[in-house]
Amino acid sequence: MIKLYWKNSAAETVGEAGGVSQAELEGISARLAAAHSAVMGQINAGNLGYAALPGRSDHRDAVAEMACRYRKGTTDLVVLGIGGSALGNIALQTALNPSTYNLLSDRRRPGPRLFVLDNVDPALVGDVLALLGRRLGTTVFNVISKSGETAETAAQFMIVREMLRKRLGEGFARQIVATTDAEKGTLREVALADGYATLSVPPDVGGRFSVLSPVGLFSAAMCGIDIDALLAGAAEMARRAADGDWRANPACMLAAIKYLLCARGRAIHVMMPYSNRLSALADWYRQLWAESLGKRLDRAGEQVFAGPTPVRALGATDQHSQAQLYLEGPEDKLVVFLSVARHPRDVRIPDTLGEFEGMAYLGKAKLSRLLGDEKVGMEYALMLARRPSVTIRFDAVDPESVGAFIYLYEFVTSLMGELMNVNAYDQPAVELIKRATFARMGRAGHECLAREVAAFARTDDKFLV
Ligand code: PA5
Repeated sequence: MIKLYWKNSAAETVGEAGGVSQAELEGISARLAAAHSAVMGQINAGNLGYAALPGRSDHRDAVAEMACRYRKGTTDLVVLGIGGSALGNIALQTALNPSTYNLLSDRRRPGPRLFVLDNVDPALVGDVLALLGRRLGTTVFNVISKSGETAETAAQFMIVREMLRKRLGEGFARQIVATTDAEKGTLREVALADGYATLSVPPDVGGRFSVLSPVGLFSAAMCGIDIDALLAGAAEMARRAADGDWRANPACMLAAIKYLLCARGRAIHVMMPYSNRLSALADWYRQLWAESLGKRLDRAGEQVFAGPTPVRALGATDQHSQAQLYLEGPEDKLVVFLSVARHPRDVRIPDTLGEFEGMAYLGKAKLSRLLGDEKVGMEYALMLARRPSVTIRFDAVDPESVGAFIYLYEFVTSLMGELMNVNAYDQPAVELIKRATFARMGRAGHECLAREVAAFARTDDKFLV
């Protein structure tokens, strides 16, 4: 399981300017209670789709059945998707399988190799497709798009579909699983026409909240991840997050600290896992936080230009890259550490070179201890600089804890949306870029925007040096 430890963002630890005082917490408690009851009201009325995901046995069963059908004989699984249709898949795989997973032999891996193509970089796509080469007949492509229209995913899908059709002939459709809206969108139409196996993205769950739906669950189940435990961990956190006693509720405490510090100018929210396994969860968090809370308008239509900026760092690596800035640069950050009590494996440093004082002290220690002590050092330095941090402690990097973490952050995002009075579930600016891409690439119906963007994009030599 996971726990929130917030001593190092309390005013009694880092001072009034850097930390949150009891009086401030008391001062915000009524607003926090109102935000919590608004979110719980939406959940209880069935209006927050993501909150129902931990209990959706229909999704779980559909995914388990599909994974059972495809796992045997599949050597490679390629996810085609972007944003909320890819980041959760990468996060689950990175957290819950070894970093060497794709390098293990077919016999030692619990499932197919996994590649997530979350960009249209031609070198990335070309490299992976070239690698698959002769294994195409045993490769499954899981194309994921809620809208079924996103240009990046559509382009990858068109390349893959044509390649499969040419190489495998009639039976090519067997190699594709489409995850999309149950009823609408171009991908759904093509899936029906070609006869792919399909999974559904629930219409009331936004992309960045969809990792615990078939979007994230299918690749996880294919790669041997225990999706029941993942959902159970999320369900347990849902129970804790429902607690109206906000001091005992990790979601409320985290939202309160983040909101209060943000309002005071600490609007850069760094997530710094001390675990490579958890590093992609920080990428997932970046999207969740940025797209949900970065808003020009509040819910009353007033311009607010709101939103804390999420940043990802990695301990101990970024102690040697970012820490100088976090410790001595602008006082605009809150660091959220992710720590792990029991790492999936450990390595002991041998008792050697004892005659060299500069190395002797490391002998016999485990790497987990060194990593943990590095984190204490980083926290200590932040405290001395009067800069706040909190820690989310993972007992272990297991499916239960990862499921709990995902639900915790989704719920905190909802609370932040309430406290900031912004709609945490839309992404109007993302949609604008999507339309601009359609226009640039000549999609019908976007001619007017295409002319506007073309005029803007013409190079003005005056500025060319
Ligand atoms: O969270 C979001 O809504 C976005 O980041 C989407 O996930 C992303 O744009 C991909 O959209 P789609 O799944 O419709 O292809």
